[in-house]
Amino acid sequence: MRIVDEEKLEEDLTFEPSIRPSNISEYIGQSEVKENIKVFVEAAKIRDEALDHVLLYGPPGLGKTTLAMIIANELGKNIRTSSGPSIEKPGDLAAILSSLEPGDVLFIDEIHRIPRFIEEILYPAMEDFTLDIVVGNDSAARSIKIDLPPFTLVGATTRAGDLTSPLRDRFGIVCKLKYYTNEELTEIVERTSRVLKMPITEDAAESLAKRSRGTPRIANRLFKRVRDFALVDGKEIIDLQTTEDALNRLKVDIYGLDEVDHQYLESLINKFNGGPVGVETLASSIGEEVTTLLDVCEPFLLQNGFIKRTRSGRVATAKSYKHLGVNYQENLFM
Ligand SMILES: Nc1ncnc2c1ncn2[C@@H]1O[C@H](COP(=O)(O)OP(=O)(O)OP(=O)(O)O)[C@@H](O)[C@H]1O
Ligand SMILES: [Mg+2]
Repeated sequence: MRIVDEEKLEEDLTFEPSIRPSNISEYIGQSEVKENIKVFVEAAKIRDEALDHVLLYGPPGLGKTTLAMIIANELGKNIRTSSGPSIEKPGDLAAILSSLEPGDVLFIDEIHRIPRFIEEILYPAMEDFTLDIVVGNDSAARSIKIDLPPFTLVGATTRAGDLTSPLRDRFGIVCKLKYYTNEELTEIVERTSRVLKMPITEDAAESLAKRSRGTPRIANRLFKRVRDFALVDGKEIIDLQTTEDALNRLKVDIYGLDEVDHQYLESLINKFNGGPVGVETLASSIGEEVTTLLDVCEPFLLQNGFIKRTRSGRVATAKSYKHLGVNYQENLFM
């Protein structure tokens, strides 16, 4: 399990509620997505109709759950949350759907993991707000139709590619969340510092942001750890020195790469001579799931120029060699 997963469990229980922004003006970055959502929410309110269904996708920790909660909040409606893997029987979904009030938001996390036969119940629910279910069994089985109140389904996934097209097509609003810039992450760190009432200097916030792998969840986690170091050192403000010492002790990479990213690059360079190599081969060489590499590792490594994707496979760039301290030899396949 990657650090992000463990963190997600930990943060959701304790730390999370206080620092999660609850309205759209506090949600930093993702400006395009934010502007669109604002307009659609406003329009839904003017028409007094449920907001169209929203699909949020992107790597873990970028703010999908947060945005879903903000959408409900901005609409002034309740949110019910569930997740793909926890919906095992048609009855599970029927129970949630029939408990909704008009205009409510139903948030389904990891929506790509809903079993196919249950997904089919969602189609008419999303399209016509009706629930078609079969009651009784064998010869006594009959299908009944129940009207549902208009509602908004907000689905979140790290894998938009894994959604079936009938499901994907039923979302009127599709938003892709992107990695955050260092400036945006700095703002997030400064906001967290204000909420948790532990001041941080500007240069320290910037340094922390740079090492956060483009991800607010990681920025917040690192902030917590650095805060602990500052506290033990008897400091009243987190400064650059404390931050860099703490991050070095925590072995946080200057580019924010984590252990899996490192294993990925090391394997690519040392075992496969820098590539090209297929992602399946790479995954098995480091004992990771292909999906983790595709959804979590590669988007960040690609965006930051550590790897390239070529027709014959993944290739390490000069930046990767330099970062790992390995001599770079021009790769003929680049
Ligand atoms: N735009 C933002 N501004 C400020 N804080 C943010 C923003 N986006 C996310 N966060 C913070 O980052 C953390 C992770 O966000 P969230 O749980 O919404 O991510 P997620 O995309 O749902 O992740 P996962 O895919 O793992 O479920 C939360 O603590 C939240 O407070
Ligand atoms: Mg989430």
